[in-house]
Amino acid sequence: MHPAILAIESSCDETAASIIVDGKVLNNIVATQFVHKNYGGVVPELASREHQKNIVPVVDEALKKAAINISDLDAVAFTQGPGLLGSLLVGASFARSIAMVNSIPLISVHHMQAHILSHFIDKPHPVFPFLCLTISGGHTQIILVIDYLKMKVLGETRDDAVGEAFDKGAKILGLPYPGGPLIDKYSKKGDENFVDFPVTELAGLDFSFSGIKTSLLYYLRDQQKKNRNFINDHLNDICASYQKALVKMLLIKLEQASKETGIKELAIAGGVSVNSFLRNSLDEKSKEMNWNVHYPKFEYCTDNAAMVAMTAHYKYINNQFEKADVKVDPRLKFPENEINF
Ligand code: KG4
Ligand code: ZN
Repeated sequence: MHPAILAIESSCDETAASIIVDGKVLNNIVATQFVHKNYGGVVPELASREHQKNIVPVVDEALKKAAINISDLDAVAFTQGPGLLGSLLVGASFARSIAMVNSIPLISVHHMQAHILSHFIDKPHPVFPFLCLTISGGHTQIILVIDYLKMKVLGETRDDAVGEAFDKGAKILGLPYPGGPLIDKYSKKGDENFVDFPVTELAGLDFSFSGIKTSLLYYLRDQQKKNRNFINDHLNDICASYQKALVKMLLIKLEQASKETGIKELAIAGGVSVNSFLRNSLDEKSKEMNWNVHYPKFEYCTDNAAMVAMTAHYKYINNQFEKADVKVDPRLKFPENEINF
């Protein structure tokens, strides 16, 4: 079997397309939107308009680079959710029309499942079963992965996602969106022990990230009463301390999940998995815990269509297709399986 699949990702602020043939990703075309930079977050209406502008050139480039005609495709895949309604609709409508015109099957993909399966684009792959910490702008979850399409959510955030905590913290510090990469950058020159931000620890494997940004806000308010230039004077140190607290919260729950399941094969996925302090901290922790941690390549951490293509490949070989009138769902539930572990 040689399925050639076109995959489209448009859930948030990246318009992306990728071609996969026989399980091998041939390319990964991503158009990132910069219009949101000065708004402190993604503006949904602007995002949909950018997707509409970008989708034809992005898909065209993916097909051309793979030297594949639309008529050579065996299926077309798209991100069904979660994400922004208008943004999802652009990718889904485009995919639907290609499927209809070519009489080929349509495959819907869950965005977070795709982040996890990005680990199968390049070798070495994680060995099943493994635990995946999926950390993005909209999600923070610990997933037990038994097989390509067999997964269970062990824990997740009850409020903000960790990426959101990075971005909101950055906004409080006066940095542009997305602030996660900037906090990472400034922290490299800062003292992570400058402030001791309190970490929130819920019972079980769930996370909570809404309290820490309030701690940051109040801390800065107090300090700025004494020194109006406090942020400028200590930006690197504040970033490093804030980042340290966020990463600590992730590692506490990851360690707990590993101990509870006895699984030492781990992976991280999603935009925040680019974070260098997290990667260094995980390397350190791995020595102590005897973990084998898998890190995706940077281009597969943030939103991309290669991960959607990879997921679509496994869905294709498992005959998981969609009807032509399938709807997108901004709050699409994670496709969980009943797993007794
Ligand atoms: O997976 P992703 O590209 O989109 C979503 O599905 O949300 O993740 C985007 C998130 C943003 O919150 C961004 O600030 C964060 O990933 N991010 C980072 C870094 N690079 C991206 N957070 C911390 N450190 C980074 N280096
Ligand atoms: Zn994502």
